[in-house]
Amino acid sequence: MTGLTIRRVAGALGAELGGVDLAEPLDSDTIAAIRAALNAHQVIFFRDQTLGAEQQLAFGRRFGPLNVHPYVAGMADHPEVMEIIKEPTDKLNFGGGWHSDMSFLETPSIGSILYAVQTPEFGGDTLFASQAAAYDALSEGLKATLEGLRAVHSAGMEYSAKGASAQKRASMQVAEAEGLAGEFIHPVVKVHPETGRKALYVNPAFTMRFDGWTRKESKALLDQLFEHSRQEAFTCRFSWRDGSVAFWDNRQVWHYALNDYPGQRRHMRRVTVDPV
Ligand code: SIN
Repeated sequence: MTGLTIRRVAGALGAELGGVDLAEPLDSDTIAAIRAALNAHQVIFFRDQTLGAEQQLAFGRRFGPLNVHPYVAGMADHPEVMEIIKEPTDKLNFGGGWHSDMSFLETPSIGSILYAVQTPEFGGDTLFASQAAAYDALSEGLKATLEGLRAVHSAGMEYSAKGASAQKRASMQVAEAEGLAGEFIHPVVKVHPETGRKALYVNPAFTMRFDGWTRKESKALLDQLFEHSRQEAFTCRFSWRDGSVAFWDNRQVWHYALNDYPGQRRHMRRVTVDPV
């Protein structure tokens, strides 16, 4: 009996959870119920929370060790907390394209927990797309073709001098990955370790090519998968308010931060959970 309420927000993924204060030390039944909701709904949302950086860290650590981003500087006293800030003078937002966080690492993260400190008066929503639903909707023939394939992921494009992520922003320090970003190989179809559900695991930001294929050979099929995977039927949309929290499963979800609030400030804090 955890008192947790769950309301689905869209057909393919997403649920809003109520009846829990994430700033409190939560008992193991509540953490298990949140984990089960995340597994079932792929992205879960909470409203009206008040989380300091330490409380967000404590909540995140209940799900696994926290990642220190290799290119985005964290808070001075809490390197695991990334501040994602778009100032009124910034043109580009961070995360403004479909991606799965940290797929460019050898051991990618399992989930991200984003807390809204300050939201714009309008706009600034985040889209999510279920890659499990995208996989389910493929033909049996294409599923069979993808089954044994692996793909090469890297931060080399997105965090290059020309990449969107590494562009200068007034209140974020993002390093360029030039010469630093390795290439790491992950299966194209990922089996969720807790649910056994399959999901597509390629994304436009970080997937460079299929392993053993050239970039040119890979392009047509990757582009087809990217187009397929962002279909509206696989998505949900979250409108933030100050104090909202989203917790998404990077193993089965893409996300996209919309950049439709020019001249306004948006300030978020993210912790990113690694596998145990
Ligand atoms: C991110 O890509 O982690 C940022 C998402 C957002 O700011 O909505």
